[in-house]
Amino acid sequence: MVYLRAIVLSLLAVHSLADLNAGFSSYDNDFIEPSYILNKNWNATTSVAQESIVQWADFLAAQGPWSVTTSKPFLAPSNNTHDYLSWSPYWWPNCTGVGNTTELTPQQIWATCPYYPRDGEFNPDIRTVNNTGAFSALSDAVFYNALAWATNGSSRYAFNVASWINTWFLAPDTYMNPNLNYAQVVRGPGSGANLGTHTGVLDLKCMAKVVNAVLVLRAGKAPEWTDAIDTGLVSWTKTYIGWLTSSPIALGEATAANNHGSFYYNQLAALQILVNDIAGANATLQKYFSTLYLKQVDASGEQSQPFEAARTRPYHYRSYNLAAMITNARLAAHVGFNAWNLTTSAGGTIKAALDFTMKVPPGDEPASELFYSVGAGAAVYGDPDGGYAAFLARSEQDYPAQPWFFWNQPLSDSGWFGRGYHGK
Ligand SMILES: *[C@@H]1O[C@H](CO)[C@@H](O)[C@H](O)[C@H]1NC(C)=O
Ligand SMILES: *[C@@H]1O[C@H](CO)[C@@H](O)[C@H](O)[C@H]1NC(C)=O
Ligand SMILES: *[C@@H]1O[C@H](CO)[C@@H](O)[C@H](O)[C@H]1NC(C)=O
Ligand SMILES: *[C@@H]1O[C@H](CO)[C@@H](O)[C@H](O)[C@H]1NC(C)=O
Ligand SMILES: *[C@@H]1O[C@H](CO)[C@@H](O)[C@H](O)[C@H]1NC(C)=O
Ligand SMILES: *[C@@H]1O[C@H](CO)[C@@H](O)[C@H](O)[C@H]1NC(C)=O
Ligand SMILES: *[C@@H]1O[C@H](CO)[C@@H](O)[C@H](O)[C@H]1NC(C)=O
Ligand SMILES: *[C@@H]1O[C@H](CO)[C@@H](O)[C@H](O)[C@H]1NC(C)=O
Repeated sequence: MVYLRAIVLSLLAVHSLADLNAGFSSYDNDFIEPSYILNKNWNATTSVAQESIVQWADFLAAQGPWSVTTSKPFLAPSNNTHDYLSWSPYWWPNCTGVGNTTELTPQQIWATCPYYPRDGEFNPDIRTVNNTGAFSALSDAVFYNALAWATNGSSRYAFNVASWINTWFLAPDTYMNPNLNYAQVVRGPGSGANLGTHTGVLDLKCMAKVVNAVLVLRAGKAPEWTDAIDTGLVSWTKTYIGWLTSSPIALGEATAANNHGSFYYNQLAALQILVNDIAGANATLQKYFSTLYLKQVDASGEQSQPFEAARTRPYHYRSYNLAAMITNARLAAHVGFNAWNLTTSAGGTIKAALDFTMKVPPGDEPASELFYSVGAGAAVYGDPDGGYAAFLARSEQDYPAQPWFFWNQPLSDSGWFGRGYHGK
């Protein structure tokens, strides 16, 4: 025993976590069953993934807090600082017919040049207004800090989660109004009066991570998660769910056939779980799996991607919608509805979609966007022939150092942990 422990400690010393390069990246979405986190019955092979989680939690903590009021230099057309604002990412200005004789300033371009869509081509200047980046960072920060609280035990992590949620949703100076009336506004002449577009509802897809964090602190009875914050967040969420289920903008997203629709259901179901409307969440997920999902995967596992087949980043969009389908199935499992083996109209399944996507060459696109879904597939469907683990070992040798390895269990580490991480 003592001898083994000494070996493990020496391995830990030789291969420090800094060697592992598990640099932070944001997963498209996810949801972890809170009891898995709180029961603490984890395989020793996940201990490095746990270290990465704490590292990512600390890395993100250094950037907070986040708020809609501080992450945009311009107001929404309502002129209300509490209104979330973002600009439509695939729209570009066309200044050729404007008749200007000198260069236009960015503000003049935004207000005078007509905008037109270039599908899949991200206009980087949208991040001048960065409520989207702020929410994405907030959702990852609360997610990893809640996990770090459960694995590491320091109350600092629970305090972080409570305080950032208070800043974003509740504090009088910094709260966000509970709607997305100005998400993904298309710029151009007259746009000062524009509402947002339904695609902007996607900006808050990672509510599933926020809800996951809250469920962990609640069920784990973290004293830092106070009744006042819980009550305030539930009240905010009930108003927002009202918007999400009645605004024409939100309803446009609910019926989007592609990843936008899938992620809408991630968001709505997670929020219904947050307010303890379990029957509502169940109905929401039943609806997804009996409508949009039916058209999303063919028998061979190829995802039919309305609007997306011709898109410029097909590997990304496949991985992206797969993450949304998996998150919907995880949320469904949480409310007692097993969606993992449901077949689409053409006979496809989530597993078939995963297996197909693993055979798609990523080309110039980042391959790692698929890896956590491969981990999920192994954990949910099993890996009797070792195909998922072999794919991961081939694609990313140090995969057991990735945070997702912690919650996608059981999954073989391909012998990596026993070799003292990766033998570098
Ligand atoms: C917002 O402010 C601008 C500039 O002052 C003004 O032109 C516009 O009418 C205002 N919009 C609303 C909805 O009050
Ligand atoms: C840009 O505007 C010009 C003139 O207004 C028009 O002829 C052209 O088709 C537009 N291009 C695009 C890509 O919209
Ligand atoms: C008009 O403004 C656009 C955008 O700033 C610029 O690209 C273009 O060169 C300008 N035209 C002239 C004639 O300066
Ligand atoms: C937007 O916010 C994210 C998260 O805080 C940050 O990583 C990113 O650099 C920001 N983008 C810009 C252009 O400020
Ligand atoms: C929690 O993290 C701190 C700082 O990184 C570390 O010193 C401590 O050993 C960790 N505790 C546990 C139980 O992992
Ligand atoms: C969720 O729906 C499924 C399928 O209709 C049902 O079996 C299950 O009992 C429901 N769960 C809850 C908690 O209502
Ligand atoms: C899916 O179906 C297979 C074959 O019937 C079964 O063995 C497996 O347990 C099911 N998986 C889930 C997650 O329900
Ligand atoms: C831990 O994971 C390894 C690799 O998958 C597996 O061989 C082992 O049985 C697991 N141990 C426990 C206690 O689950």
